[in-house]
Amino acid sequence: MTTLMTARLRLEPLDDAHLDGLHAMNSDPAVMRWLGGPVATVDDTRAMIARVRTRWSEWGYGWWALVEHDGGALVGAAGIQHLGKDRANPHELGWRLRRASWGMGLAGEAMRAIVRHGFEELDAPRLCAIRHPDNAASLRLMERLGMRYVGVQHWDGADVPVHALARTAWRLRQDDDGAAPAHD
Ligand SMILES: CC(C)(COP(=O)(O)OP(=O)(O)OC[C@H]1O[C@@H](n2cnc3c(N)ncnc32)[C@H](O)[C@@H]1OP(=O)(O)O)[C@@H](O)C(=O)NCCC(=O)NCCS
Repeated sequence: MTTLMTARLRLEPLDDAHLDGLHAMNSDPAVMRWLGGPVATVDDTRAMIARVRTRWSEWGYGWWALVEHDGGALVGAAGIQHLGKDRANPHELGWRLRRASWGMGLAGEAMRAIVRHGFEELDAPRLCAIRHPDNAASLRLMERLGMRYVGVQHWDGADVPVHALARTAWRLRQDDDGAAPAHD
């Protein structure tokens, strides 16, 4: 299991130690508004952690808790899974932040590290994300990450806009930013 670090966050593979922080977020109607279900009960959040732990052990990747270096609060969760929760489908990114942490750039910061991990360590050829059509905050995040709209598809029981970032396009963006590692 891989822990990732960013300037403000430590991305820890989700486990039982994150239950309270994760549940506080998952039981907030504002956070769950576009996530396709009702607010979570504590048992739902426990089941989410158990599912994620299974993925980490079977696949070697899954969801991380986003923990602030400064103070140790759980500010969100984000991860890599697969569309339709089936490994035969393309990789899918997911994210959510507790409401108090919106508007600070923390989701973008975490997702840039996860995207890098997906391309460089997991060798994903392309990373997808889906959203509720009215989820404007997620659309802005997808655009900031360089994801392109590819169309509406049927996933998880609904017709949803799909966005994708190809590894080749991501590499070009790294070069443009001058952020790519130096090559000999
Ligand atoms: C989707 C979600 C994670 C986006 O959170 P967010 O805080 O808007 O996203 P980011 O962390 O990338 O922050 C970007 C915002 O922070 C602002 N910001 C402040 N300081 C910043 C910084 N240092 N760096 C970057 N952005 C910064 C930006 O201006 C931007 O605000 P804007 O969207 O009003 O223009 C959040 O709305 C959420 O958790 N929603 C509920 C769950 C959900 O819908 N999940 C996704 C399902 S598809």
